[in-house]
Parts: sequence; C-alpha cells; structure tokens
Amino acid sequence: MKAVILAGGEGTRLRPLTTVVNKHLLPVYNKPVIVYAIDKMVHFGIREVMIVSTPTAVPLFKALFKSEKRCRISFGVQPQPKGIAHGLLVAKKFIGKDNFLLWLGDGIVEDDISRHIHSFETGAKVFIKRVVDPERFGVATIDRKHHVLEIEEKPVQPKSHYAVTGIYLYDNTVFQKMKRQPMSKRGEYEITYVNNKYIEEGTLKAVFLKKKWFDIGTFESLYHATRYIRAKEQRGLQVQ
Ligand code: TTP
Repeated sequence: MKAVILAGGEGTRLRPLTTVVNKHLLPVYNKPVIVYAIDKMVHFGIREVMIVSTPTAVPLFKALFKSEKRCRISFGVQPQPKGIAHGLLVAKKFIGKDNFLLWLGDGIVEDDISRHIHSFETGAKVFIKRVVDPERFGVATIDRKHHVLEIEEKPVQPKSHYAVTGIYLYDNTVFQKMKRQPMSKRGEYEITYVNNKYIEEGTLKAVFLKKKWFDIGTFESLYHATRYIRAKEQRGLQVQ
C-alpha cells in the first residue's frame, strides 16, 4: 500500500505562526508535525510515501527527510492551495493503479490502523472520531453496519457526533470520481465531493478511531496536542 500525505494549504488559522513556516513544520513537543505522519507510515509498514505540499515548503521537507531510510519518500508540488481533492490529484501518477492511504498531514493519531490498511480491497473508508464539537468538522452519519450515509461540512446542526478525521483509504476509482468535479463555493476542490460519490455507490464505510486524535490546525488543538505528547513522553511512552 502507498500513502499520500497532504502538507500544503495556507494554515490561515495559525497565523502568524504560519506566515513564513508551513504548518506541518511546526513543533509538537519534540518533533515537527510531519515527522509524526512519517513515523506513523513506518509503523503501518508503508514503504512508499508521497508528500504533497507548496512550492516553498517542498524543498524544506526534502531537507528534513534527506537521510530518511525507513521508507521511500517522494514529493509532489501543489502550485496553489485549491483543496484536498486538488492536492490528491498531484499524486495521481505516483499512485498508478494501486489503492492507497490518504493522510492529512496536520493530524496526529494514536490508533494503530494497520489491519484496516492491509485488509483494504475496494470502495473507500473514512476514519471517524466521536467529538463533543462536531460543528467544527465534516460530520458523518452512519448506519448500523458502518456504511456512511452522508457527510456534511461544518453543519450548524450536526446529525451525529462523528467527525471525519482526515484519514482515508481509497481504491483506484477515486480519480474517475474526480472527473468533472466542480469547484465549491469557497473556491476549493473538496474531498467531500469525492466521498459523496462513494456514498452514492454505497461503498463508503466508516472506521471508528478509539484513541486520541488531534488536528493541529488551531492554536488550542496545537497546544493540547503538545501537552498530551509531553505528558506521555515523560511517562516514557512514545507517541508516533
Ligand atoms: P485545512 O486545515 O482545511 O486548510 P489549511 O491547512 O489551509 O488551514 P486553514 O483552514 O487554517 O487555512 O487543511 C487540512 C489539511 O489538508 C492540512 O494538512 C493541509 C492540507 N491541504 C493541502 O495539502 N492542500 C490544500 O489545498 C488544502 C486546502 C489543504
């Protein structure tokens, strides 16, 4: 299985921290955010990874990982931050005919999802997490067999407490589903559009994350992630 880590975007919510530094290079206690993602890929046994990011950040990621031996990392440039589906398209050639893991690089996840990765065959999977403030996220409605029925982006009145976390498994039909994709009102090519195509087919399933999940896109979540990881490190428990 290959993995695509998206590490572009503008990080507007973290300005001025991100005015000159890519969000994924910010520290979370003792490592830059992107290193948590790569450590996780290694732990899952993924050997081929593409990091997609901005023209200015790609050379920095190359420098950061120049001695990385545990997996083969290639780099893709997304010229403008036009959305997650747009960033994924940069990796089309890298993915070729394979299934793959899509990982939003600003997430720090404790769960070990290896068995889901290695048993994945067709359709798509989203990893969801129960949260107290679902209105901040993409929110999934699911049935008893964990089929996803609907994903709503930042709904005012969420239908569930399940946030879509930014970890996805896709089969190779994903790029067909992106053909003729319109730009959303906020000017992005949304991954929700792609996920909704899988929902129409009845092939989008949800997997629950049970342990900690942080998306470090705000000052508060960056701070909480740092505190949590520091506490774990001090108890001698390494967080990947
Ligand atoms: P977001 O947090 O949705 O966007 P952002 O990083 O630009 O931040 P902000 O909303 O504060 O302006 O992005 C989620 C993840 O997807 C993050 O890891 C960055 C990545 N991403 C890209 O790689 N390319 C893109 O075009 C976008 C929008 C996001």
